[in-house]
Amino acid sequence: MSAWRQMFQRKPIETLLQEGRARGGLKRTLGPLDLVALGVGAIIGTGIFVLTGVAAARYAGPGLALSFFISGLAAGLAALVYAELSSMLPAAGSAYTYTYASLGELPAWLIGWNLILEYVVASAAVAIGWGAYLTDLLRSFGVVLPRSFTAGPLAGGVINLPPILIVALVAWAGITGTRRSANLTRLVVALKLGVILLFIILGSTRLNPANWRPFLPFGLSGVMHGAAIIFFAYVGFDAVATAGEEVKNPHRDLTLGIIGSLGLSTALYVLVTLVLTGLVPYPRLDTASPIATALISTGLSRASAIVAVGALAGLTSVLLANLFAQSRVFFAMGRDGLLPPLFAGLSLRFKTPAASLAVIAAAVSALAAFIPVDVVAQLANIGTLSAFLFVSAGLLVLRRMHPELPRPFKTPFIPWTPLLAIAFSVYLMVNLPPVTWIRLAVWLGLGLILYLTYGHRHSKLRTRTENTTAHPLIPEPVSKPLPSEAKKPKNPS
Ligand code: ALA
Repeated sequence: MSAWRQMFQRKPIETLLQEGRARGGLKRTLGPLDLVALGVGAIIGTGIFVLTGVAAARYAGPGLALSFFISGLAAGLAALVYAELSSMLPAAGSAYTYTYASLGELPAWLIGWNLILEYVVASAAVAIGWGAYLTDLLRSFGVVLPRSFTAGPLAGGVINLPPILIVALVAWAGITGTRRSANLTRLVVALKLGVILLFIILGSTRLNPANWRPFLPFGLSGVMHGAAIIFFAYVGFDAVATAGEEVKNPHRDLTLGIIGSLGLSTALYVLVTLVLTGLVPYPRLDTASPIATALISTGLSRASAIVAVGALAGLTSVLLANLFAQSRVFFAMGRDGLLPPLFAGLSLRFKTPAASLAVIAAAVSALAAFIPVDVVAQLANIGTLSAFLFVSAGLLVLRRMHPELPRPFKTPFIPWTPLLAIAFSVYLMVNLPPVTWIRLAVWLGLGLILYLTYGHRHSKLRTRTENTTAHPLIPEPVSKPLPSEAKKPKNPS
């Protein structure tokens, strides 16, 4: 087989399904509530606590609620696609794995590579935000952290310690057990949802409807621009799909986790934005902490400390979900030989990808020390949108190639849903600043070099195809039924 054809070789579905059931792999410990918490954990964070203010003040006004709705619809289209693929192929790598099965190895590698933008690069910004919130909160209680230890060398300090500490805590939770990290996720998600609900309830008692007039001060184009900006608020729901090999009943619960978390978050986003813009005139929201600003300006200044706690919890949950998701994507890539075996290794004691998590945490911490925050959101957006694009195209390919496979959840309105998801992803991508495209091109160039020098050479799919002829692609591990399948009577055929 020519090298070119090898690069577009598809991973057989039967191999994928067997890997998910192989003994000695990741442990199936997660239930539906964990998945919704993982999704809400990944979704609600910087987007609502930080970006909303600027987006309302500069782009959409009170109509930002409509922007959130539109962006949520776009994410919803992709979510319907992810729901079908993840329930059909509950595998650790999510978008990477679906692309490997549908479009081939090189596109899969590039998507896996782009997911680093979504999970690792975005986490660096989230960790920096976490540090800034902590520093402010402590200052409001009279505790002033020395600047040398709250800013990196590029910002006039020595080392920015708070982001490193939170990343270390989150990595420790992930390393010492998926159950432990899931419990921590539940806790911080409950905390942040509590704070958001408190804001909605408290805020709605002090609304001034005059602030909503005019509702669309920047017209519909402002609403669309706002939708592109706050798309970052939806980045991350696909983290749920990476848990495919750790869910007790993946065929049912992955769909619930993906669609449930996205639906809940969209509803909260729309409500928060309506309350926010109803509390204060939208031009006054041009700040990095709009929720606290709104509360303070309506005389609820003590509540702003509670908001800071909610934001800290929110950002922690995004970090938990991102580190979880990234380690599972790397796990799948390492298992396929496209990354060094270290990434596919599991801790014997905890059954978690411990070494991989440690490497990811080190990378996030190092980036947090150096990277300028403003470029990060756009890079994360473009990385995520490129994954949506490939996953949607992959769904159409798999429907044609494997119409026989059981699909516990079927994306409605084929081919329109994936086609619309592709169209919307492209629309949002072209609306990003040109410099983001240049950065993406550099990133992809680097990825291609790594693929050619390492991934392609070590690809298990390639080496197995070359070395075997009879049953080239079936892995050795003994397979076992999923817990949900074990109870079902055997099919007599
Ligand atoms: N959606 C995540 C956030 O808003 C990335 O922080």
